[in-house]
Amino acid sequence: MINVGVIGLGMMGNTHLDVYANLEGVKVVAVADRDPKRLAGEDRAGGNIEGQAQGGFDLQSVARYAEGDELIADPSVQVIDLCAPTPAHLALGEAALASGKHLLIEKPLARTAADAKRLADAADQAAGLAMPAMCMRFWPGWTWLKRVIDEQAYGRVLAATFRRVAQHPGGPFYENGDACGGAILDLHIHDTDFIQHCFGPPRRVFSRGYSKITNTVDHVVTQYEYDGVPLVTAEGGWAMADGFGFSMRYTVNFERATAVFDLAAEHPLTLHEPGKEAQPIELEPGMGYAHEIAYFLDCVRKGEAPSVVTMRDAARAVRIIEAEAQSIASGEPVTFESA
Ligand SMILES: NC(=O)c1ccc[n+]([C@@H]2O[C@H](COP(=O)([O-])OP(=O)(O)OC[C@H]3O[C@@H](n4cnc5c(N)ncnc54)[C@H](O)[C@@H]3O)[C@@H](O)[C@H]2O)c1
Repeated sequence: MINVGVIGLGMMGNTHLDVYANLEGVKVVAVADRDPKRLAGEDRAGGNIEGQAQGGFDLQSVARYAEGDELIADPSVQVIDLCAPTPAHLALGEAALASGKHLLIEKPLARTAADAKRLADAADQAAGLAMPAMCMRFWPGWTWLKRVIDEQAYGRVLAATFRRVAQHPGGPFYENGDACGGAILDLHIHDTDFIQHCFGPPRRVFSRGYSKITNTVDHVVTQYEYDGVPLVTAEGGWAMADGFGFSMRYTVNFERATAVFDLAAEHPLTLHEPGKEAQPIELEPGMGYAHEIAYFLDCVRKGEAPSVVTMRDAARAVRIIEAEAQSIASGEPVTFESA
């Protein structure tokens, strides 16, 4: 049995608690939140995707701490699951890594690229294993895409377009651009990271964007330049009108097929091949969060460092986002130094 402690009982903490409740061989033994109502289970944060953060976990049955540091010091906790707001990732992440326990840390790895590098450096020195929770690398339909790109099952990629747009989630953390980093860091990083997962670090980025809700970028479109792939773009934003909800899509055009993913569709993934009927692709059940957590626990059981996503990958994703923000500010493409 692996004992887990979850820090931060917001949208993400609740999402992870749901996952642990449905997994074998793992037990949540402690939770921490500064907000007494959340710690008491009186105020439950919901999710932005249907089926997420259902709040079925009984908080009364576990140790409860007001501060993340107290949970990190609890000797019964083996795996620390850090779901606190982004600005708290650096201090709590460094404390968790120094404790010798294993760490699953929410994306974005940190508020700035410099802080994210510090965490990746600390993870290199840590006795425990560490993994950033880049859930798209585990999302059914997206794992399929990564596999067919790697295998060149339908030939080379000619164009890949990702789109993740939503109404604003609300709440003090997401309304504070200095804290959350705007949609460009908080939301769009999912696609930026998935793009580097599929195609490596881009040579240059060219972005446009605007602010509507926070003092940072709330809606961005980026073109990622590669030598081997003609067209890679991603749009991310939470500036849509209330009632819009949440939309997550991709369209990838291969030499011999076109793949379309739309989370809202009855069959989210469809493959179009010339001369054939459009074919719905059967997907594994569950959301990326469940597959990501199951994978990390498996790494912990085996004592193997995670390879699907590393702390360095997550730190690089924050650096690419900063290059995108720089491109928006300057109006010019920005060369990305991948080293
Ligand atoms: N993987 C994803 O798809 C995804 C989705 C949403 C959010 N996130 C990330 O998860 C993190 C949390 O987001 P959220 O929506 O759950 O935020 P939230 O504001 O709803 O919840 C965070 C909670 O952490 C608590 N907290 C703050 N500092 C603390 C401390 N030092 N010790 C203990 N508790 C503390 C707050 O009281 C709050 O209840 C952010 O980094 C966010 O970017 C990831």
